[in-house]
Parts: sequence; C-alpha cells; structure tokens
Amino acid sequence: MNILVLGGGGREHALVWAIRQNPRCDRIHCAPGNAGIAAIAECHDLDICNGQQVVEFCSRHGINLVIIGPEAPLAAGVADRLRLADTPVFGPGRDAARLETSKAFTKAICDAAGIPTARYAVFREAELAHTYVRERGVPIVVKDDGLAAGKGVTVARTLAEARDAIDAIFQLSATSSGVPIGDSDRTAVIEDHLDGVEASLFVLADGRDVLPFGTAQDYKRAYDGDLGPNTGGMGAISPAPALTESIVARVLDEIIHPTLAELEHRQIRFQGVLYAGLMICKNGPHLLEYNVRFGDPECQALMIRLGGQALDAILACANGELQETGLNWADDHALTVVMATKGYPGSFSKGSVIRDLEDIAQSSRLQVFHAGTTPSPDGTLATGGRVLAVTAREDIASAARNSAYRAVRDIDWADGFYRTDIGRQP
Ligand code: AMP
Ligand code: GLY
Repeated sequence: MNILVLGGGGREHALVWAIRQNPRCDRIHCAPGNAGIAAIAECHDLDICNGQQVVEFCSRHGINLVIIGPEAPLAAGVADRLRLADTPVFGPGRDAARLETSKAFTKAICDAAGIPTARYAVFREAELAHTYVRERGVPIVVKDDGLAAGKGVTVARTLAEARDAIDAIFQLSATSSGVPIGDSDRTAVIEDHLDGVEASLFVLADGRDVLPFGTAQDYKRAYDGDLGPNTGGMGAISPAPALTESIVARVLDEIIHPTLAELEHRQIRFQGVLYAGLMICKNGPHLLEYNVRFGDPECQALMIRLGGQALDAILACANGELQETGLNWADDHALTVVMATKGYPGSFSKGSVIRDLEDIAQSSRLQVFHAGTTPSPDGTLATGGRVLAVTAREDIASAARNSAYRAVRDIDWADGFYRTDIGRQP
C-alpha cells in the first residue's frame, strides 16, 4: 500500500521509520519531511493544511492511507476533507480536534460526563478573572484558551504571577488604564492547581472501539531539574512508571470512555489517537488536557517499542476495524533525549553543523530521529529549535538511558544542548 505522512518533525520521522518496517507498506511519502525522513521516504512540498491539495496529491499518487502528525492540519479539517474523498485517514475531524484546540470545550465535556479534572472557571474579561483568582488564592493555573502544546499555561505561585498571566491573555499593557488593546475576544481558563505525578496515556479510537496504545512521561522544561521555560518536550520515557495497569484501567473507565461517549452523544466521531495528559493525584487520576495527535517526543519512544506493528493498528483505526486488532508489547523501556539549538525555546540561530552523526550505529534498539535538520555538503545542518531525538530501547530503563546518552555524547554539535536527567528518578 501507499502511505502519506503529514508533518516534518521527530514524531513523523519515528512514524515513518516504524511503519516502513511493515511488509504491507510499499511506498511511503511524507510532506514536508526533513533530512532524516528524506533518507527513508519520498518527501514533497505540499501545503499540509490545505485539504484540497492533500486530496489531489492522494489521487495522483494512489495513496491508501494518510497519517496526520501535527495538530494544525487536524484543526484545519484536513481529515474531514479526506474522508469526504473516501481516503482512509488516521486523525480526527475538525469537530473532534476541539478537544485540543479549545480547553473550554474539553472542560465542558468533562462537566457533562463527570470526568475528574481540576475545578475551573472560564473568563472573557480580565477584571472578573482577577477577582476570581484573589478569592481562590494561589497556587492557581492560568491558561490561554485555544493555544496548544503547553504554551500559554502559567502555574502561578503568587498573586502577582497570576495577575501578569491574566493581563498577558487579555493583552493589557502595563501602562494602560485597564483598557484592552488588540484582540478583545480572548478567553482565559483558570484552574485549581493539582498536586501529583504527570503522565500521558495514548489510545487509538475508531468511533466504536478503543485500543490502548502505550504510556509515556515527557519532560517539558528546558533545563535539568525541571527548571527553565516550558518547551514542546526535551525528552520522554515509555512506559510511564506512574501509569500502572490498575491506574490505566481507571483512566480508561473514568476518563477515556466517558469522553468518547459524550462526543458520540454530541454526534462527534473521534477517529485517531487521543493523548490524555494526566495528573495522578492521591485520590486518583485527573485529566489535565487532551491532544488529538501523538506527543513529540513521546511518539519516538512509543514507535521504537512498537516497530512495524504500529502500522497494523493505525490502519485498523483509520478503517474502523480496531475491534479485531491487538498489540504485542515487549516488556521493555524506551527513552528519548532531545538535542536542541542553544537558545531554544527562545530565539536561536540556524545553520550550525552537526558532526559525527553518520558514525552512530543505528539499529532497532537505537535511532537518531531528526526534527529540525537540513542536509548540506558540509554535513547535517541544524535548522530548528528541537533538532534531534536520540531514542533507545532496552529491557531495563537504566540500560535504555545509558544507551541513549552514550549516543548523545558521540554527536559533535557545539551549538546544541540537552537535558542530562531524562529518565532519572526525581
Ligand atoms: P496543559 O497544556 O493544560 O497540559 O498544561 C501544561 C502544563 O502545565 C502541564 O503539563 C502541567 O505541568 C501544568 N498544569 C496544567 N494544568 C495544571 C493543573 N491544574 N495543576 C497543576 N499543573 C497543571
Ligand atoms: N510533548 C508534548 C506534546 O507533544 O504536546
């Protein structure tokens, strides 16, 4: 079969790497791809948020399955457009993607279905938000509705921090007399702070059945010891130690199934991967947020564990045949270390050369997935914030960590940095 993967990050490199190991995969295309993906798939220049362009590409290349990596094409309704054209697609439609694009929507689903989540209130005016925060006290969490990937979330430890976060959402300049400038239809979601251990559960859903697709824990802060600014993710481990079998069973019962039932009640079909960001609290698991795509770099850790069988499950999901599908999980552990350009997640320069990449011996147990890279005659150039995701799999977690860090240290890249504490117990 011919497969098209949309996206060009480490997540998509890992997806392409895994599914091409499956003998059902004949040709694999990717748009836009990156230097690492170009070595194992045909890359194309395509506007991946333009449904019409994607549909035309599929008919020109005889595509039998489209896998949508990032959230932007999902939010733009590309999956809906492909389904109208009868092309099997892995990824939910625009309505179901609201689970990621609107925190207020997700909270409303939680209310309707009785899903455990932090107590919250939604505000469209700064003044009311300020009053609420003064009443509830700190710590408190201020979220800008509609922003993805952890950006726009402030865990405020002081009232001043909470005030600044609210003002930033409503774009009140410090010198103004409280009159909003710019976009006035902004929304803030303000939540109670939950204490616990964070972890993520991935499930495939096809509109009828659900297949658990693994657990992971990611490391969002830029620097060791969970310090520094939030990033897209600086590393991940899978499985997540906090998500024991019995906790996963509770998450499925108390969070995942009620969510999908509530969507169905609203006549919204979810077909793709649902990524639940969870806080495992003393009194049980709580939902922090949903994403409607794989996490990056969590996907890299999942894919090195699953290999080619990932394609069977993804295809069954796209075809509504999950009921007949299972996965063989080995009793193993994967760990990903992200190497990023110095300065990320702030401003950084592009074009530094990464040396010795070719000398890393890659195998089914060790892969260097590319994110922001471009090939050049001088070697591989770093052209993004997050640049490489070095991913290892071993029978025990400490061996996976040693293996990944050994490879990281062998990569000669003066302009890069990475966290040294991925997978280390706090
Ligand atoms: P989100 O994008 O909603 O997952 O938020 C980004 C990060 O903020 C999460 O990964 C948590 O670390 C933190 N966070 C979000 N909501 C809460 C909450 N209610 N209590 C504690 N931490 C939170
Ligand atoms: N690693 C977090 C995310 O992909 O949203």
